[in-house]
This record gives sequence, structure tokens and C-alpha cells, in this order.
Amino acid sequence: MRDNFLWGGAIAAHQVEGAWNVGGKGVSIADVMTAGTKDKARKITDGILPSEYYPNHDGIDFYGHYKEDVKLFAEMGFKCLRTSIAWTRIFPNGDEVEPNEEGLKFYDELFDELLRYGIEPVITLAHFEMPYHLVKEYGGWRNRRLIDFFKRFAITVMERYKDKVKYWLTFNEINNQRILDNPIYSWTNSGIIYTDNETKLETMYQAVHYQFVASAWVVKEGKKINPDFQIGCVLAATPNYPLTSDPADILLAQKEDDQQLFFTDVHVRGHYPKRFVKEWENKGYHLDMTEEDLKILSEGTVDYIGITYYLSNTVSVRPEAKCLNDVLLGNDTLVENPYVQATEWGWSIDPIGLRYYLNLLNNRYELPIFIVENGFGYADTFENGHVYDKERIEYLQQHIAQMKTAIVEDGVDVIGYTVWGCIDPISFTTGEMKKRYGFIYVDRDNQGNGTLKRYKKDSFEWYQQVIKTNGSNI
Ligand code: BG6
Repeated sequence: MRDNFLWGGAIAAHQVEGAWNVGGKGVSIADVMTAGTKDKARKITDGILPSEYYPNHDGIDFYGHYKEDVKLFAEMGFKCLRTSIAWTRIFPNGDEVEPNEEGLKFYDELFDELLRYGIEPVITLAHFEMPYHLVKEYGGWRNRRLIDFFKRFAITVMERYKDKVKYWLTFNEINNQRILDNPIYSWTNSGIIYTDNETKLETMYQAVHYQFVASAWVVKEGKKINPDFQIGCVLAATPNYPLTSDPADILLAQKEDDQQLFFTDVHVRGHYPKRFVKEWENKGYHLDMTEEDLKILSEGTVDYIGITYYLSNTVSVRPEAKCLNDVLLGNDTLVENPYVQATEWGWSIDPIGLRYYLNLLNNRYELPIFIVENGFGYADTFENGHVYDKERIEYLQQHIAQMKTAIVEDGVDVIGYTVWGCIDPISFTTGEMKKRYGFIYVDRDNQGNGTLKRYKKDSFEWYQQVIKTNGSNI
């Protein structure tokens, strides 16, 4: 393992900060999402309704506790912290000309606090937090004008923090929106809710095209602000395995992977894969895509690939395969994999899949990879101020071991690893507090009750040792 390996943790503004209407912050798309559960989808409401509970409004009040929390991250020895800048703290509505100084100051203070402990901020520009106003007024990323609004936001923060932040990520899990049947993804990626009269896939490609252009432009302009910037993309990396050696299963798995890798293909190579252009032609799609757009794509390719890794999928056309009917992923070819276990939330546990996918990405792109999320969502039991989270330690241990093998034996260039939800956040997909990820327990429940007091879990000390020994104890 390299000496400067970036061990750390990851969070996102809307899942931890709270203070949703403090310091001039505007309403974001996450602010209109209610709480759900594994079996009950989060609702996306038309504005904020007094009768509903919105868990992201208060989060875990990282906004008010960040000094205490950063101190705990430092105690664990974090080399970096991945978080996002809430767009709505900087441009509350998204279409203002001047930024909100109070929001900018908050991140100045947060980054200073991190740097004081030698913790490098790794910053995501868009992590499901676009201004709600941009949805209501412009239709979200359906609208080309979003490119300019995003550019203004990105350049404002890159200028402001050019001496504090080196690692940037543009759009979190940009490929989530390829899952068309669950509204949570088009909403959080693009601020879009499909109507019955449109071809979802065509709308999706249009929105993503605007995001690709915005991302490439930011990479290109970011380098002018500071040539040392390292700017990456984020792929939700989920291997697709064929259940059987039936050639139809193999082909299906390949197609699923291709659809996922389409996103990194464009970010990394700077142009659209020919087969997708062909598909659009065949389907009669008319995408708004100019020569100038295509030029920007080729000029703003990413420096590294950020991946989030939690699980693998298995697909099959075989009638005997056990269909998962996954509410979250909504794909009727997804089937149960008899060789892997799953979490209480139905996410498969597949450490080898991490090594497999690191190799696949390395073979395809030969770019540095940053694992910007990996973690174990679990309903921890809190007993007399203590959390014995041996299941989490086991999960992380197994995944880190596979990452190490990929680095040491397979020669994959992994530059860092940040554990998702290093302090218990609000779950993105369910809005629950109960689905915990942290090394630090936060006293808050699904209904928003609790003291918000922080407690170290057993995994806290364990991860401290991993970092201290640069992973050699794994
Ligand atoms: C990723 C997101 O999809 O997975 C995070 O980038 C999210 O925002 C994480 O929290 C885990 O998902 P969940 O639904 O368990 O919180």
C-alpha cells in the first residue's frame, strides 16, 4: 500500500448537516423527501407539507456538531474526509448571480477545521442536493440552462477553496438514474419525475448529456483555477453476474454492465460509445447535443474514477431463477445469487465483487481509482452507551482485504478508501436513521427523537488500527 493512501470516511451534506433553513440555505430536492423504510418508499412531496416528516431537515446536525465530529475523525487517524457542498447553501435558489457568503463561510470553517488535523477534504459538487427552485422553475436537468447554473456554483466554490481542496468529484453516482422504474433516482440525480407521456430513457439520456457537459466543463475550467486539482467522476459500481452459463445469461450480464459503464466511458474517454449513438438512432431519439458540447466532452476527461461499492447483482433469463423483485432496483431480471449473503436491507454482501470490479475498471480505463464509498448498513444495538458492531468490522475487513489484493497482486492503482457514513447519517434510499453505517453512533431514531449525542462503536478503534498500520493488519 502506498504511504500516502487516502484512508478516511465519507458523508454527504444533506444526510448529515441538518440546518436545512439556517444560514440562508435554500430548499433542496432532499428537503422534500419524507421518511420511508425498506418496504415503504420515501415520498417526494410538492413543496414542504406541515403534515410530513422530513428526516434530512435536521440530519444529525453535523452543521452544529462538526468540530466535535472532525475531532473524532482525527482521533481515528483519517487522512481524508469526503463530503459534499450543499448547492443550496451557496446558491439557495440556484439561479442567483451572487453567492450566499454565510454558506461559503461555513465550508471555509469546516475545511479549516479538517486541515488543522491534517485531514484532506474530498469534495463532491453534486450529491443529490440541487436547489428545489431549479426543479420548479426550470424542470431540473431536463433544461440546458442547468449547465450554466451548475457551472456558476462549481466555479464559485472551486475559486473560493482552491487552496484548501485538491480532490473534487462532480456528480455522485451519475449512473443511478439508469434505474428508470424507481422515482428516487431520477429525482435525486436530476430533479426529474417522469410523466406518462414521455419516453423515460430518452429523457434520461438528455439529462445525463447536460450533466456530462457540465462535468467536463468543470474539469477543464477547474484546472485553470488550480492545475493541481484532481477531478473525478462517481460511478455506483455494481458488478452484474450471469446466474448460469446459458449464453443468454452471459449476454444479459454483459449488456447490464455496458449500460453501467456507459457513464464512465463518457467521463473517461470524452466521447459517446458508438453503440449507444446507434441505439439512439434506432429508437428515433432526438437529443439536444451540439458540436460544441461534444468538443467540451473530449476536453474535460476526468483524472480519476471514484466508485461507490456496496453489492453485486446477478441476472438471468432462466425460468428456474429466483427473481428478487427488488423494489429499489426494479429490474425483473435481477435474481438471487445462491453464493452470497445479504444484509437486512437485501443488499448482497460480496467482497470478492469489489476486487473483480476494480480489475474490470482498471483493464478498461487504466486510471487511478478512488473507492469513495463502501460500508455496511445495519440496525446496530445500543446497550448502555455501547455498540458492539462486529458484523460491520467483518464486512469492512473483508472488503479491505479484497481491495488490498487488487492493489498488491493485481496492480490496480487505488488511491484511497473512504467508509460510507463514518458517522451515522440519514439513509439515502429509505430516509431511516436505523440503517446505520458509522464508526460513531448518533443518538437519534427514525422519528427524529434522541439527544444527538455521539458514541464510539467497537469499529472505531478497529478502523483506527487499520489506518495506523496502513492496512497491514488486514
Ligand atoms: C450511495 C449514496 O448510493 O449509497 C449515499 O451515494 C447513500 O448517499 C449510500 O447513503 C448508502 O445508501 P443508503 O440508502 O443505505 O443510505
